[in-house]
Amino acid sequence: DQEQKIEDLISQMTLEEKIGQMSQVRHFDDVTPEDIKSKFIGSVIHTQGPVPGSTVAEWQDKFSEFQKQALDTRLKIPLLFGVDAIHGQNTFEGATIFPHNIGLGAAGNPEIVERAAAITAIESKATGFNWVFSPCVAIPFNEKWGRVYEAFSESTELTSKLTQASVKGHQGSNGNEGVLATAKHFIGDGATDFGVEGGNTSLTKEELIERLLPPYQAAVDSGVASVMASFNTLNEIPMHAHKAMITDLLKDQLKFDGIVVSDWKAYSRFGQNEIINAGIDMVMAVDGDLDGFQEGVKAGVLNGSISEERINDAVRRILRQKFRFGLFENPFPDKGLIQKIGIPEHRAIARQAVRESLVLLKNQNQALPLKRTSRIVVVGKFADNSGLQSGGWTVNWQGMTENYSGATTILEGIRKFALHEVKYDPDGTASIEDVDVAVIVVGENPYAEFFGDVGGEMNLFQLTLTEEHQQLVQSYSQKGIKIVLVLISGRPLVITPQMELSDAFVAAWLPGSEGDGIAEVLFGFFDFKGKLPHSWPKSVEDFNGKYGPNYWESSIEPLFPIGFGQCYHQEK
Ligand code: IFM
Repeated sequence: DQEQKIEDLISQMTLEEKIGQMSQVRHFDDVTPEDIKSKFIGSVIHTQGPVPGSTVAEWQDKFSEFQKQALDTRLKIPLLFGVDAIHGQNTFEGATIFPHNIGLGAAGNPEIVERAAAITAIESKATGFNWVFSPCVAIPFNEKWGRVYEAFSESTELTSKLTQASVKGHQGSNGNEGVLATAKHFIGDGATDFGVEGGNTSLTKEELIERLLPPYQAAVDSGVASVMASFNTLNEIPMHAHKAMITDLLKDQLKFDGIVVSDWKAYSRFGQNEIINAGIDMVMAVDGDLDGFQEGVKAGVLNGSISEERINDAVRRILRQKFRFGLFENPFPDKGLIQKIGIPEHRAIARQAVRESLVLLKNQNQALPLKRTSRIVVVGKFADNSGLQSGGWTVNWQGMTENYSGATTILEGIRKFALHEVKYDPDGTASIEDVDVAVIVVGENPYAEFFGDVGGEMNLFQLTLTEEHQQLVQSYSQKGIKIVLVLISGRPLVITPQMELSDAFVAAWLPGSEGDGIAEVLFGFFDFKGKLPHSWPKSVEDFNGKYGPNYWESSIEPLFPIGFGQCYHQEK
């Protein structure tokens, strides 16, 4: 059987071949196809930096070229190709981009999460990947954290339910259909004091088990193939070097039999021996110093500071997933999948996800639904920019261009349905006459993996709208027309004054490529279904402590509680 095959293979492997399997390198930079063969590389990651080609066929060819090198080794062990496809295959221009997880948390529908993940798997495979670093199963404790949008919700229960759906969707029921999913970042990433990325999480073991662990249990129970370690410390111990958490809790107690992968170059921060001994099986991005890394691990084994059994355990876990996902039989990308990227059926599911993710926070004076006969002005640059509406890890970080092919914007959607000409005022300078209603779209510029003041106007610790957007709302509120405010953001922001100035307010999160899904709900072709996946802060004072407002702490009264969301036809 499979486990026997793995043991047979391990028994034939040299120490160098085993360490090679544990090495993940970055494509196109410091690594050549020859390195893949001579250093017995186990996996390649594609992230920021040059894309593998200008057509999907070129991407596939590039991966095949690397795969051939791996298969040309003595033991013919295929490579894993990993990518941060975290809301669709967001590194490929033209792919279907779904709402970020916070939007899926608002939709709260496991079925749509599963279908979105299955489509992400298809489009990722079509571009040559067999491993995605998703889903993020964090429970954010503070909206200042720059990765709140990557997580489903502050509710442990909802996160666990959607995690299960996401893992199932990505991996498929039979390994050959899907891609390896990754539950990340183990553990405490979103619960650091004051929301600092990679900071210290100071929860007690009981709190951690109650609030943060259940999504991992759900992922493991659904057969998740990998778990990524987190950059935070847990009560001052770096998670990458936390044997009690990685080996004793995750692997032994939770019975996780897949790969624990490190985060980006974690070995250089925490020490390669330390992280491997704690239970890290594959080390990410060792490319800059491949020889140094591999020789260092070898020396560690030879001088007894890393046991050979630990190395065998790591290799066993890596090979197990390569067997489970059928890579030995089907190592090359499937040419037949190429035509599936961004197809209408996939976009229809993404549009449904967008519609279900929208949360109606306020609706007065019958501002919504919009009437097709109304004279409408659409305001703000976020209304007509598919990059801004997609958020981090798409335009920002992975380097996708703004307004990428095949996407629709909110303005385009509104223009599709309105019977009169729709005016567009991107920056609030247009003079408007004969208008009944303004749809003002404000939001946060995209950010990924940053925290605090990241320069320019980006300061994630500032939770209010930019001056410019505050002005836009202020000036339109004085024109005597109805104001519908749509917020594009990766987290709840402090918008109390703007809420008062508007007739209707919609939290639209980061919808992805199908902006016209928003218009379908604004016009009332579909009802609002979304419910807040987080408590919504009232003021910046709500953040004076370690955490923001949340439902398990009654000392702060939020503006809206988790679970809030109106609809056109209120249930009686
Ligand atoms: O998967 C990511 C992770 O979430 C953050 N650091 C880098 C990894 C690979 O890009």
